[in-house]
Amino acid sequence: MAASALISIKTNDDKIEIVNQLLLPHITEYVEIDIIQDAHDAIKTMKIRGAPAIASLASLTFAQYLSRALRQEPLPDYFSSGGALKAHVQPLLDYLYTARPTAVNLGNATHRLTKKLDDAIAANEDARTIAQSLIEEGKLIAGEDVGRNKAMAKWGGDWLVSRVQPSTGKTLNVLTVCNTGSLATSGYGTALGLITYLHEVGQLDKAYFTQTAPYHQGSRLTALELKTLQIPSVMICDTMVGSLFQHHNIHAVAVGADRIAKNGDTANKIGTYNAAVLAARHKIPFIVVAPISTVDLNIDSGDQIPIEHRPPLEACLVRGAIYPQPSEGKVEQAQVMLTPFGLDGIYNPSFDVTPAELITAIVTEKGVAVKKDGENFFDLTPIV
Ligand code: MRU
Repeated sequence: MAASALISIKTNDDKIEIVNQLLLPHITEYVEIDIIQDAHDAIKTMKIRGAPAIASLASLTFAQYLSRALRQEPLPDYFSSGGALKAHVQPLLDYLYTARPTAVNLGNATHRLTKKLDDAIAANEDARTIAQSLIEEGKLIAGEDVGRNKAMAKWGGDWLVSRVQPSTGKTLNVLTVCNTGSLATSGYGTALGLITYLHEVGQLDKAYFTQTAPYHQGSRLTALELKTLQIPSVMICDTMVGSLFQHHNIHAVAVGADRIAKNGDTANKIGTYNAAVLAARHKIPFIVVAPISTVDLNIDSGDQIPIEHRPPLEACLVRGAIYPQPSEGKVEQAQVMLTPFGLDGIYNPSFDVTPAELITAIVTEKGVAVKKDGENFFDLTPIV
């Protein structure tokens, strides 16, 4: 029987719950997202994270807000017209988009809802009908994620096997960074989806993953996902990528993305650029796996991607379970400071940008793009 994946967002009628990723891997606690402010706070504090997952949560919470409003008797005044509805809900969408700046999926989701709203107003629909179609759109944004993840995993996995395997005749070792699996999406994952697919079709030897300091998405979340899925894996510290490439046969690096510029420059979790430089040095294919909603055709290159800097304190702390655990029963968690108290001068960007030049292929649900010979940028037109 296939092992079941972890679930980042659970919805049941009118109830939305997320697994609090700050407590994983030792404590699995679902917290209810009741109002728009809850979703904003959960995204900002990284109780939920991963570009597609935060877009899904924002869309579902917006849908929940409207469906509750539609059940009120009497209907709130802002249902008097499409314009009044827009004046009320647009600030909510704008507010959700401010929760985290780098992942464009969040902005794409809120813009998609705004466009739906504007089109319906232009078509003179009444506010109730507009709200109904916004609810459907919000649910659709979250719901369509799993199918496209499976599609891109197959595109990318088959492409990799056809490119790498004939020359080696072996199953593949693939390194990934951060967490891009079920926890980072509505399900299955992007780069981790590709790795899962390779495992499912018997083409994976091992998944390697970096710890991904300072938030440790690798050692806390990817480790848990791979263990849950029973996929053979090896964790490395972030500093060990060069050594791994020197001493082990790694066939590819597969990463997710938070924003891909028109030329293919890609923002992803801090440390991705390091892995890409080392992969180029070792002639290891470097693959970005992300849905079309991660592509930002409004910007020409990675220089224009807004990079989130997290609070300096987050780079000074590790959180996890006390080891060894003092007693049986409830797992005891702790947060430990790694630095002198009151350290000044901490650099803590959450993402870096890998130039297109270092990327071998970009995969979306529509297919695989590679660069033309001699060019150091992508034409993403066929895959967006
Ligand atoms: O800060 P995070 O944990 O939200 O960063 C997540 C990443 O960088 C992922 O690689 C990216 O969002 C793709 S997730 C499918």
